[in-house]
Amino acid sequence: MTRPNGSFGVDIIGSGSGLPDTRLTNADLEKVMDTSDEWITKRTGIKERRKADIANGELSSTLAIKALNAALEDAGITKDDLDMILVATMTPDMPTPSVACVVARKIGAGNIAAIDINGACSGFIYTISMANAMIQAGPYKTIAVIGADTLTRYVDYSTEGRTSAILFGDAAAALILRRNDDTSRGLIAHRMHTDGEGSKHLYIPSSEFDIPEDSEYRVEMCNRVQMNGQAVFKFAVSKFQQVIGDTLADAGLTADDVDHFVCHQANSRILDSARDRFGIPSEKLLINIDRYGNTVAASAPLVFTELAKSGRIKPGNKVMFLAFGAGLTWGSSLWQL
Ligand code: COA
Repeated sequence: MTRPNGSFGVDIIGSGSGLPDTRLTNADLEKVMDTSDEWITKRTGIKERRKADIANGELSSTLAIKALNAALEDAGITKDDLDMILVATMTPDMPTPSVACVVARKIGAGNIAAIDINGACSGFIYTISMANAMIQAGPYKTIAVIGADTLTRYVDYSTEGRTSAILFGDAAAALILRRNDDTSRGLIAHRMHTDGEGSKHLYIPSSEFDIPEDSEYRVEMCNRVQMNGQAVFKFAVSKFQQVIGDTLADAGLTADDVDHFVCHQANSRILDSARDRFGIPSEKLLINIDRYGNTVAASAPLVFTELAKSGRIKPGNKVMFLAFGAGLTWGSSLWQL
């Protein structure tokens, strides 16, 4: 049997989500840009997404706190049991302090370790593997790993921005990891990758100095998502399949051995391609993009939370977290529960 690597076992003892109340449906988008429900549904699988009320203080940190409180309750522990808060985000409330520090202060977590990790849509997958490493290194026993993003604040809701505007939604989701002495449970294998050469296909410039050499600068580009949809699509399909294959090989497993593929939700066609390639049945790869769109770092933990709440995550399951995103980045984290 494939065993987790490390001196300690690690359990995922709780999960929770934090979602804005405001829904942005395809019909809402039809009113502000030249698009249609039919086009969006066919090309992406998205029907609606949530949008944070930034003007009234709904931020990555407030969604993260909502998610963390739900996960703590689910785990049956309190903030006082936490040793560390890690937040995967590319949309912090402000450059500093980090979302993790804001969360720690607002929940009254005292002087525990708290830091953000920016891996864009792959951020949560990197972070959960890094949390395992911190538990193995000690002395941390209980770590909250949160994915929290409010990318809609960087989206252009006009026809010019329609290719990316239709994709993104806001959300947070949190998992609680806890060390135990039973090494039969925990991280089995993981992969973390980047390709900086592809960064020009998906970025948010702050100034003209951030524009790739082969693109022409316009001031309206600043603080707005810039995406070459077709290039990202091709990258995602190929890397998603490659990272699943590599992670299974590292672990000495086949796709049949994995109970749930907990995938970043960027486009249902990208997920279908992975399902077809490995013969993964639909009950092992939950797609919830229709309701939330692409929620960046919150995407995979949101899927896990939904599976857990509906009783589909069982003790003994093997779960592979997967994502790809800006950077370009991609990765996996395979867990024995
Ligand atoms: N509504 C209607 N038409 C749209 C549209 C929209 N929201 N966005 C683009 N179009 C139009 C284009 O202008 C183009 O028109 P043309 O043929 O007259 O030139 C046509 O639809 C096709 O555009 P294209 O960009 O080739 O579409 P696509 O099939 O590649 O789908 C995406 C676009 C964005 C849905 C797809 O490329 C994708 O999902 N890419 C991956 C993006 C991603 O996952 N990003 C996040 C990574 S974490």
